[in-house]
Amino acid sequence: MTTTTPDLGGNGDGARGDVVRDRAMFVDPEWFAKELEHVFAHSWLLIGHDSEVPNAGDYVTRRMGTDPVILVRDESGDLYVLLNSCQHRGTQLCKASFGNTAHFRCGYHGWLYGNDGRLKGVPSVKKVYADEYFAKEDCTLPRARVALYHGLVYATWDEQLAPFEDSLGDLRWYLDALFDIAPGGWEVFGPPARYLMQGNWKLPVDNLGMDGYHLATAHKTMYEAGFLGRASTTESVVQGHTMATPEANTLRVVHPILDADDPLYFGFPEDRWPSITEGLTADQREFLDSSAVVHGQVFPNSGYIKVALFTSGDPRDKQTAFLQWRLYNPIDVNTTEGVHWCLVPRDYPDEWKRESYKFATRTHSGGAVFEGDDLENFSRIQHVSVGTRTRRTPWNLSIGLGVEAEDHMKRWPGPGPVEPKNYNEAGNRALYSRLRTMVEAGA
Ligand code: FES
Ligand SMILES: [Fe+2]
Repeated sequence: MTTTTPDLGGNGDGARGDVVRDRAMFVDPEWFAKELEHVFAHSWLLIGHDSEVPNAGDYVTRRMGTDPVILVRDESGDLYVLLNSCQHRGTQLCKASFGNTAHFRCGYHGWLYGNDGRLKGVPSVKKVYADEYFAKEDCTLPRARVALYHGLVYATWDEQLAPFEDSLGDLRWYLDALFDIAPGGWEVFGPPARYLMQGNWKLPVDNLGMDGYHLATAHKTMYEAGFLGRASTTESVVQGHTMATPEANTLRVVHPILDADDPLYFGFPEDRWPSITEGLTADQREFLDSSAVVHGQVFPNSGYIKVALFTSGDPRDKQTAFLQWRLYNPIDVNTTEGVHWCLVPRDYPDEWKRESYKFATRTHSGGAVFEGDDLENFSRIQHVSVGTRTRRTPWNLSIGLGVEAEDHMKRWPGPGPVEPKNYNEAGNRALYSRLRTMVEAGA
C-alpha cells in the first residue's frame, strides 16, 4: 500500500499566478479583521455621490467597511462623512437610510449633534456634568477625510494617505475620459440599489475588476436567448485591452463590433455628440471610440462599468448606455453588501436618463440578469471554501501570463501598463498581491 502526501499546493511566488496560495483570505475571520484594520482603515472608500445630498441638511447613511457613517451636507454647503455612533455610549445615531435634518438626536440619552458633527445639546448638562470633566467640543463625531472626484465622494480615516486622485495612478486618465464626455457634470439617477450577497467582498471585486473570461459560461443563457442583442453572437470574438496598475486599480476595455454605418457614440443622444467630443482630447476620443464596455476596480472595494452596446435584444429598442459605480462593502467574512449607483449626465433629457437607468437596472442591478448568474457563483465559491481541505487549496490566476497577444490597434492612446488582451488575470493578481502586502506589513 502506498501513502500519499497531501498536496497543499501554492507555495509559489506569483510567477505562475499563484498569488492566492490558499483560500483562508476568503473564509478566515482573523484575516478579515486584519483587512479591516490594515487595508480598509488606510484606503479611500467610496461613500456615494454629492448629487445624493444636494441641499443643506440632506444626508444618506453608508458604511466604510464595518463602520457606519453619515454623508451629510451642513448649513454652509460643506460635505461631511461622520461616524454614525454617539460619543456618549456609542448608540447608532441616525437609523434612516436618507433624509434631511438640521440635527441628529441620539435615541438613548438625547445628545444632539449638528449636521457638521458638533455636539450642540446635552440634556441637563448643568446638573449632571462639571466643566472640568466635560466639554462639548471634545465630543464632535469623528469626521473622515473627504475627497470629491467628478462628484463621487470617497472618504478615509487615514490622515496621512495620499490624495484620492493620486491613489488612482494611471487609471485616472481613463476615468477622467469617461466623465469628460459630459461637460455639464453627472448626477445619480434614482436611489442606489443595495443588496446582500453570500460571499466574501473580494469575489465581486475580482469579477468586476477584470473577469471577462466568465461571460461565455456564466452568462451563456443570456447570450443564447438573444437577450443582449447583437452582442449575443459575438462575445467569443470580441477583442479587448486590460490594465492593472501598481495600485491594483484595473481597466478592461471591450472593443465595439460596429457595422460600417454605426455611429461612434451609440447609446448617447445624437444631439449630444458635439458636446461629447468637445470636452475630450484627441487621445481620450480614440480611447472612447474603441470602448463599447469599460469596467474595472478601484482598490480596494469599489469599481465601475460603462456599457454602450447591448440592447434588450428587441430590435425595436433604442440602443442606450449607462455608467454605473459600485461598492462591495464587507459585512462579515462571508457576507457583502453590494451598492450600485447609476450616473447620468446632469443636463441630458429626462427621457434618456430614465432609459439609461432602466437599462442598467434590467441588466446590471442587484437582482438583474448579470448579477444573478454571478451571485450564484460567488455563493458556491464561499460555501465550499470553508472545507478544511478546500481552504488549503490555491486558486489558479495565470490567465494572460506568457500569452503573446496580437495588438489589433495601431496605437493605444492612454497611459499605463495596458496589454492587448481581452482575457487577463493581471488585475486579479494585483488585487490579491496588494492585499497580502498590506495585511502582512500591518500585522
Ligand atoms: S448613547 Fe447617545 S446620548 Fe447616550
Ligand atoms: Fe458577470
